[in-house]
Amino acid sequence: MEKLLYTGKAKQMWQTDDPEVLRVVYMDQATALNGKEKDHFAGKGKAANAISTLVFQYLIQHGIETHFIKKLSDNEELVKKCTMVPLEFVTRNVIAGHFASRYGLKEGKVLATPVQETFFKSDQLDDPFINESATVALGIATHDELAQMWTVCQEVDTLLTHLFAKAGMQLVDFKLEFGHLSDGRIVLADEFSPDNCRLWDLKTNAHMDKDVYRRNLADLTTTYDKVLARLEEVIAEE
Ligand code: C5P
Repeated sequence: MEKLLYTGKAKQMWQTDDPEVLRVVYMDQATALNGKEKDHFAGKGKAANAISTLVFQYLIQHGIETHFIKKLSDNEELVKKCTMVPLEFVTRNVIAGHFASRYGLKEGKVLATPVQETFFKSDQLDDPFINESATVALGIATHDELAQMWTVCQEVDTLLTHLFAKAGMQLVDFKLEFGHLSDGRIVLADEFSPDNCRLWDLKTNAHMDKDVYRRNLADLTTTYDKVLARLEEVIAEE
């Protein structure tokens, strides 16, 4: 019997009969302001699942170790069960979002080098910023583990900046999460979709990510479907 383990903001995690395998269900739902706003969008789960599948398959082909096993259906995928590291790893290539508001900057300037920020995952505390010494002192991860995860973030940044640029989009920033497999190895987990990255059209600078919902700019599912169509086109050419 399958058991529901967790309902998040956009996904459900189910324990399958195999103790090492989870089934992820992408829901037709989007949230903003850390879950304080929530809306239903038909077709959004299907688009996010399809995009995340393409991106994870692309990363695996390029040597990144991940939890991804396979896409099961429009809204479902199978992943290896992980004990999640309770951190969000944000990489920024361009000034946007909270980086702009925190430092009083205008959005849009390309950063001299990518910026790496870590946040402690806690809905109750609104995911506060956490630095390396606090992460290590609290036993969340070791210096070596942090270095390993940040190296993967850099590799993902290089690979996906290239992939999205080919698809006519600038990878502005993105959030990754990691987990430990049962043997302790750390792998890339969670998802990669326009829910957790910023993508700007390279020609028009139009937002092609969850900011269209956060800022009420365009229809969310239509936007995600456009990202998917562009990715499918460039991946077919690879
Ligand atoms: O809001 P902020 O500018 O810090 O977001 C940076 C990037 O991380 C964005 O791409 C955003 O979608 C992503 N993010 C996320 N989940 C969070 C916070 C940020 O996916 N809880």
